[in-house]
Amino acid sequence: MINFARDTRSSNMKVKEPLFSYSLPNIDNNIIHGDSLSYLKSIENNKFDLIITSPPYNIGKSYESKTSIENYLETQEEVIIELIRTLSEEGNLCWQVGNYVEKGELYPLDIFYYQIFKKYGLKLRNRIIWYFGHGLHASNRFSGRYETILWFSKTDNYIFNLDPVRVPSKYPGKLHFKGTKKGLPSGNPLGKNPSDIWEIVINDWETCLWNIPNVKSNHPEKTDHPCQFPVELVERCILALSNENSWILDPFAGVGTTMIAAMKNSRNSIGIEKEEYYCRIAQQRMNDFNEGKLKIRPINKPIHIPSVNDKVSQIPKEWKQYELINSDSQNDIFDRK
Ligand SMILES: C[S@@+](CC[C@H](N)C(=O)[O-])C[C@H]1O[C@@H](n2cnc3c(N)ncnc32)[C@H](O)[C@@H]1O
Repeated sequence: MINFARDTRSSNMKVKEPLFSYSLPNIDNNIIHGDSLSYLKSIENNKFDLIITSPPYNIGKSYESKTSIENYLETQEEVIIELIRTLSEEGNLCWQVGNYVEKGELYPLDIFYYQIFKKYGLKLRNRIIWYFGHGLHASNRFSGRYETILWFSKTDNYIFNLDPVRVPSKYPGKLHFKGTKKGLPSGNPLGKNPSDIWEIVINDWETCLWNIPNVKSNHPEKTDHPCQFPVELVERCILALSNENSWILDPFAGVGTTMIAAMKNSRNSIGIEKEEYYCRIAQQRMNDFNEGKLKIRPINKPIHIPSVNDKVSQIPKEWKQYELINSDSQNDIFDRK
């Protein structure tokens, strides 16, 4: 494990959230500063029960140089071959991606990646829609509000634990209405299957939320990384698709979100990240976690919905002339159709 000096640049967290501290002596979590392909070559076959990552999207973020989609995918394929080699026979792989955009044309990356994983024999178990409800507003197409996670397994005998990720039933009082179980509860007391559409709040800090008064403007997990994913998102995959003490890999680890989710749930992990600055933040987050100082949005915490009386729900006075479009009476017309 590398140990970096304390980095104060990542500590701009203002919102009060519970602190987690599960410092488990037998759990090993490491952030490696380096190139994923080179490092992967040194890892033995079948080590990881879960590989989960959000790879670079080739969209010209500060940590990547944009190239043609063909070159980008060729490079990624080399990494993918190594990932499949290091995945255990019961192992799962989760690939979280959005769109690559070229001259205004959209390339949904999961469609391209699916072909590569399929070519090497992986089996798709779910294409999960990660819906986040807020984001940039597009003007030449509909605004994008979801990304996907392709969940593949290496074989048909794969790890899948549904109970730890069940969510509360909408109608727990529903009863069987016929048959031998008539009158008995029809749901599962542990909750329902979370389905393949996950509404997990995205990085609030990147979205329009920060302009809205009375809505919290900082996600508690915010760091300097431009594309960090929420711990909650990784956590659900870790709980369902690996076991306690499993080894987990994130080959494009960024600021170590996967490692935090692994530590929180008693899993071992390795993260590989090429940018030293992100490695330092990741290490700092891991240290903070061990000391019980890391703020994490709790899994399944309901998303804040402003009430009708909140200022943010009111029609601004500057929009008076559009009142008919926004008013309830107009909505009633649509509702009745
Ligand atoms: C989309 S970000 C992942 C962010 C991460 N999920 C998190 O929560 O912080 C992709 C990361 O991959 C890193 N990266 C890109 N190419 C890499 C390579 N060849 N080896 C290791 N890391 C790489 C980038 O520096 C970037 O931090």
